[in-house]
Formats: sequence, C-alpha cells, structure tokens
Amino acid sequence: MTTTMATSTKVHNQPPPPEIRFRPLLLSDLATLLHIHAKIFPHGNDEDPSLFYEQMLSNEDSDKMMTLGAVDSSRPDDKSDEIIGYVVTTKIVNASDSELADNIVAGESSDKLDNKSLVYVMWLGVLEAYRNRGIGTYLMKEVIEYASKIPTCVGIYLHAVAENKAAIKLYKKMKFKCVRRLRNYYPINGKLYDGLLFVHCLNGARCYRSPKDVVTLMLGHVRSGLKSAGTRLRKIKQERQHRS
Ligand SMILES: CC(C)(COP(=O)(O)OP(=O)(O)OC[C@H]1O[C@@H](n2cnc3c(N)ncnc32)[C@H](O)[C@@H]1OP(=O)(O)O)[C@@H](O)C(=O)NCCC(=O)NCCS
Repeated sequence: MTTTMATSTKVHNQPPPPEIRFRPLLLSDLATLLHIHAKIFPHGNDEDPSLFYEQMLSNEDSDKMMTLGAVDSSRPDDKSDEIIGYVVTTKIVNASDSELADNIVAGESSDKLDNKSLVYVMWLGVLEAYRNRGIGTYLMKEVIEYASKIPTCVGIYLHAVAENKAAIKLYKKMKFKCVRRLRNYYPINGKLYDGLLFVHCLNGARCYRSPKDVVTLMLGHVRSGLKSAGTRLRKIKQERQHRS
C-alpha cells in the first residue's frame, strides 16, 4: 500500500514541496538504492553492501525486517517512482543477546529480557535535495509504529556518528535516548569518529546508561568540550594576529 504525505507545513521560504509518497522497497529499486547509498553514507571499511541490498529486496526474511522508501511523484514520469529516501531495519534480534542487554529492562519484569526482541535500524537516508522536509521524521515514525506492533519488542536501536547533527536531532526528537558512546567506532575516509548508540524503548521497557557508559559519555563530552575550546582559542589567536 502507498501512503501520501503533505509536506507543505514543514518547508519555509521554498517553492511548494513536491508530493512525497511512501512505499516498500522493491527489487527494481536496487540500482537506485546502491547509488543513494554510495552518495549519502560515509565511506568506511564496510563490505560492499550490494549483496545485503539484493537479499533484502529479494524478500528473503521479509517478515523479519521492514523497508520503506519515499518517492517524489511530481517528478517526470520516468522518475516519479524513483526512491529519494528510505529506511531499512534488520532482522529482529534477541534482546538478551544484544549489545543493549545491560541497558534495557522489560516493562513487566525488571530483570527478564528472555523472549524479548529489538529492532535495529540499519539505514536511514534522504537525498540532500529532499532534506529538511520531514521525510526522515516520517520514515522513523513508521519504524516506531512497525516495532510497536511486535508484541515481544522492547525497543528500537541504532548507531549514529557522534558528529551527525541532523541525525542526532531527528533521533532525539523521536524520543531516542543515547545510552552509550563508542570511541573510534566509525572509520571514515581514513579518520576515526566516535559513535553513539541510541534506543527508543517500547512496550513499557526502560532504558538507561550503565555506570561504564556514563563515564565514557562524560569523557566524550569533556573531550569534545576541550576540542571546541581549543578551536575557539585558535580562532581568537588568529584574529589577534590578523589585527596586529
Ligand atoms: C538524517 C536525515 C535522514 C534526516 O532526514 P530529513 O528528511 O532531512 O529529516 P527531517 O526533515 O525530518 O528533519 C529532522 C530534523 O533534523 C533537523 N535537521 C536537518 N538538517 C539539520 C542539520 N544540518 N543540523 C541540525 N539539524 C538538522 C531538522 O531541523 C529537523 O528537526 P525539526 O523537525 O525539529 O525542525 C538526513 O539528513 C540524511 O539522510 N543524512 C545523511 C544520511 C544519514 O546521516 N543518515 C543517518 C545515519 S545514522
């Protein structure tokens, strides 16, 4: 089924937004998705994603994952069904075996995560020309709705590059909580970046930071505070040198 969404209320000082429609991803989207993937996701040491995309679109395990794509129906006919943004969740994972086992407690019993599951958001991306129009928000809302309907699901989790301001703002807006800072988690173009682990709890579950996570997170804040103070000081010094 395809759903439509009026985006006009989100856009300020821009021409009327195109009509955005949402539909599940199809095998025929493979080339477009690989193109978008290469364009918007940072290049790390990841394996070639084409095999994963192909398996996912071939409907293998489709009951265990969710895909949703956005298209711009106001584009010319040959492009009007072409994906411009999408979200992919991976298979539902067992909560007690997951990396969140120390960060989440199920609603009805405070210690048992057995038989509980989690949904992992693998990819969320919107082409640059279509950003800031509420498409990312809509895709994430749909993920939350999908996961909420899984009776055993205690949460949705994902990783984000610690410097990805747009994604972090979006996740916080959608009530995702950062529970862990992962030092040097992302190798991107030869540089290492910290990662953040975000969780959105569901079905009465509660998530929190373990004591070790609190310390790591605080150290991360101190480090980035020192880094930006250093940048400010360098700027002031440069300005002074420029004036004299
Ligand atoms: C993250 C991403 C999916 C957001 O998609 P989007 O369609 O622009 O999202 P929305 O329009 O729903 O905007 C979400 C929020 O982010 C904010 N935002 C957008 N760009 C921003 C920026 N550069 N800095 C800070 N906040 C930003 C918006 O203001 C909006 O908040 P608001 O509703 O309170 O105004 C998109 O930026 C993207 O594809 N980025 C590249 C891929 C990526 O980083 N994916 C996430 C991997 S973890």
